[in-house]
Amino acid sequence: MAVITPARPSGYGRLLPLAAAGTAGALAVALLLGPTGTTGATGTRDTASTAPPVTDAVVGAAPVVQGPTVQSAAYTTAVQAAAATKPKVTVIGTGGTIAGVAPTRSDFTNYRAGQIPIGTLVGQIQPEVGALADVSTVQFGNSGSGGYTIPQFYELTAAVEAALRTADGVVVTTGTDTMEEFAYWLDLTVQSRKPVVLTGAMRPWAAGTVDGPQVIGADGPANLFNAISLAASQKTFCFGTVLMLNDEFHAARDVTKTSTTRMDTFQTRELGVLGWIDGPAIRVARAPARVEQCDTPRSWATPFDLSTIPVTALPRTEIVYTYQQAGGEPITAFAQAGVKGIVTAGTGAGGVSGPQGQARTAAARDFGVVFVSTSRTGSGSVTGGSGNVVAGGDLLAQKARLLLMLSLAFAPGDADKARQWVGSIGNQEFVPVKSPRDRIPRPSA
Ligand code: SIN
Repeated sequence: MAVITPARPSGYGRLLPLAAAGTAGALAVALLLGPTGTTGATGTRDTASTAPPVTDAVVGAAPVVQGPTVQSAAYTTAVQAAAATKPKVTVIGTGGTIAGVAPTRSDFTNYRAGQIPIGTLVGQIQPEVGALADVSTVQFGNSGSGGYTIPQFYELTAAVEAALRTADGVVVTTGTDTMEEFAYWLDLTVQSRKPVVLTGAMRPWAAGTVDGPQVIGADGPANLFNAISLAASQKTFCFGTVLMLNDEFHAARDVTKTSTTRMDTFQTRELGVLGWIDGPAIRVARAPARVEQCDTPRSWATPFDLSTIPVTALPRTEIVYTYQQAGGEPITAFAQAGVKGIVTAGTGAGGVSGPQGQARTAAARDFGVVFVSTSRTGSGSVTGGSGNVVAGGDLLAQKARLLLMLSLAFAPGDADKARQWVGSIGNQEFVPVKSPRDRIPRPSA
C-alpha cells in the first residue's frame, strides 16, 4: 500500500486541504513532488534518507510545515520515468468551446462549440508541446458537452482505456458545461492508474473559420498545453481523473462549474485545488484518497469495469430537485417510467418536501427505486439514511447520480450495495480514519 505521510504528526492520515491548512491560511501544506520541488528528481521524499525535510514557507507566516508525501513505488516509478524519457500522451477530442469558432476575435460568448478538429488544436500548439510529449490525437466526437449520452460515456471509457494501453497519459477535451460529469464518470470507470486529465476552455479558440485567427485572450491553447504537460509529468498517477483549467487542477469527484462565463469557473468548494501549474512548475498540494492504494492496483481500481457489462446494464437514473412545496409527481412518474435510481438534491442536509417524501416511500416500496440523498446547497454532507434511501455524503447530485447508476448496473436493485459503494468509493477517506472526537475520553458503559 502506498503511504501518505501526513503534514503534521497528528495521528490521522487525512491530508489537510489547503483551505484548512492552519489558522487563517498561516500554514502551507504542500505535497511536493517531482523536479520542481526540493525533493530531488525522484519526486518522492524518502523519510529514512538524509534528504532535507520538505518545507514550503508562506511569506509572513510563522510556522513552516513539512509537506505530506506520497510514498508509493508505482508513483515514484511513473514520475521518474516521465522525467527520464519523453512520455506519450493521447488527446481525445469531444468538442466544446475549446473547439469553438466565433464570428469575430472579440466574440467571447457568441460562438459555435465543437467545430475545430482536435488534430488542428494540437497542431496549433506545436512545436512547443512536442518538447513535452509525443502527442497523438483521437477524434471521439465534436459537439457540446451536454449532448453526450450515457452510452457515449460508456464508449468514451473504452476509448480512454484503449489509448492508455500504449500512451502514458490521456487528455480528454470537452465542453465545460458537463465536464465535471465526464471527469467523474472516467474517474469511476477507467481501470488504468495512468493520468487522465480533462480540459476545455471558457472562450472559443478561433474566429471566422476553423483555421482562423485566435480569439483575443482565448484560454484553450494554454489549457490544452498545460493539460498535456500535466499528463506527461505523471504527477497525477493514481489520482484518478483530474480536471485542469485556468492553471489549476482538481479532483474529478470534487470539482464543479460555478460560473457561466468566468475563466476560474471550476472550483472545489471546501477542499480546494489539488495543485496548480505555474509555467514549467507543476505543484501538487494534496491528493485524492485513492492514491493510497497505488501499489495495489486491484484495490486502487473501482469495481466498475465496464468491459464486464453491456451498455444496456446501465439503468436510467435521474435527479429530482427540492424546493418549497415541491410536488411528488416527478418521483412517481420516473418510477413508473422504469427509472431505477433517483438522486434527490434536497434542502439543507438533504431534506425533501412532504409530497416528495411520500412519493419516495411509494417508489421504493412499489418499484424498488433506490434513492441517494444529496444537498442542493453545493457543499456539506448528508448523513443517515436507511432502507432504499442512501446518504450521499458530500457528493454533488450530478456526481451521485453517476455513482448510483454504476452501483445499480453492477448490483441491480441492491440498496445496501449502493450504500456501501457511495460510502467507500463515493466518500473515500485516507486511512486510518480517525476523528479528533475519538480523543475525547468516553465514560465506560
Ligand atoms: C459545452 O459545454 O460544450 C459548451 C460550453 C463550454 O465548453 O464551455
